[in-house]
Amino acid sequence: MTPGTEAASRAELTATVTGLMSEIAGTGTDHLRGGYTRPVYSTAELDLREWFIEQATKRGLAVETDRNGAIWAWWNVPGGDRSNSLVTGSHLDSVPGGGAFDGPLGVASALIAVDILKARMDTPPRPLAVVVFPEEEGSRFGVACLGSRLMTGAIDPDKARNLRDPDGSTFADVAKAHGLDPRFVGKDDKLLGQIGAFVELHVEQGRGLIDLNQPIAIAESILGHGRWRLSVHGQGNHAGTTLMADRHDPVVAAARMVTGIRDIARNAANARATVGRLQPVPGGTNVIASRVDFWLDVRHPDDAVAAALVESIHTQARLIAAEEGCSVGLREESLSPTVHFDRGLQKELQLALPQAPVLDTGAGHDAGVLAPFVPTAMVFVRNPSGVSHSPEEHVVDEDAETGAQTLADALHGLMA
Ligand code: GLV
Ligand code: MN
Ligand code: MN
Repeated sequence: MTPGTEAASRAELTATVTGLMSEIAGTGTDHLRGGYTRPVYSTAELDLREWFIEQATKRGLAVETDRNGAIWAWWNVPGGDRSNSLVTGSHLDSVPGGGAFDGPLGVASALIAVDILKARMDTPPRPLAVVVFPEEEGSRFGVACLGSRLMTGAIDPDKARNLRDPDGSTFADVAKAHGLDPRFVGKDDKLLGQIGAFVELHVEQGRGLIDLNQPIAIAESILGHGRWRLSVHGQGNHAGTTLMADRHDPVVAAARMVTGIRDIARNAANARATVGRLQPVPGGTNVIASRVDFWLDVRHPDDAVAAALVESIHTQARLIAAEEGCSVGLREESLSPTVHFDRGLQKELQLALPQAPVLDTGAGHDAGVLAPFVPTAMVFVRNPSGVSHSPEEHVVDEDAETGAQTLADALHGLMA
């Protein structure tokens, strides 16, 4: 490309994070729940992937989709060597009724950081890639960070292939329908070996930066967290003809279990336990359910304490089930130990961002899955609502631009 054409095409680029975010503001809006619903491989998420590919291509990046469905947009060094690459990026899928920023802010900021760096240098001294990981939220197939888990070998490919979405479709079938060969999903040593460092920018999902009155933080750790599915079995029956004394109602048992879970977590310092999804089967107003499935999310900085909490929850659930004439089973769906980010990378980021405080987070991220394999860091951008996984999640324009600038500076520092 001649310098003149490059200048012309640069002028056509959306030049701000806010501009990029506004381009996708209408994609995947959920009029029932509010906010955004963008599960992996839904029309909304596919539209966002297309948007990303278009934006990356406009920036002259070489776009490739790996065998696990992550999209990589490369700014190559002359000669194309990809060893010791710098990688940044995040995800485009969302929880049901989620906010606009969880995931997309990191992707949009990465693209703008590339623009900033391209204005500073013609070719990077180190290859740089922007990545979009699929199914970070686990909203469709139940396992959080499925794409990065597959790439790093943190999930058995057979287990992944057999995961089912709420409609009963397997991950293998859905992946195949979207151009992946399910036989080849799994650990990608070559790609993983090319990553010299991964830096993920993310909206902060709590109040840390509000309380410190700062726009940007560097992450120190992610709380260990896991997901379990509980299935409470009772006896399906008629709401009008079944006397109260004759019931084996799994909804009543599940309701008692949910308050019991809250009480167990309240009694353990720093614990978080959540039930955000319950499904009575068959689910009729005048039907006593035969089964209730519900999902438990438990987090704690000490992995042994998290395991003990889940054990107590299971024991209590069995007692409640017996009292209600029901039975209960518990199955682990995913588990992520507590992660402390790479100290060296954290220190380098602190040099580039001397004002930024260092914070822990209770939210999970692909960066946490990558951390045991490659030096990994995270940058958080202030969320003035302090609320996330909700339409109320927010980032003000000025902080969004500061975030991208900060990311560019951090990446620039790491290129030296
Ligand atoms: C993802 O955002 C999670 O923390 O569950
Ligand atoms: Mn999230
Ligand atoms: Mn996220």
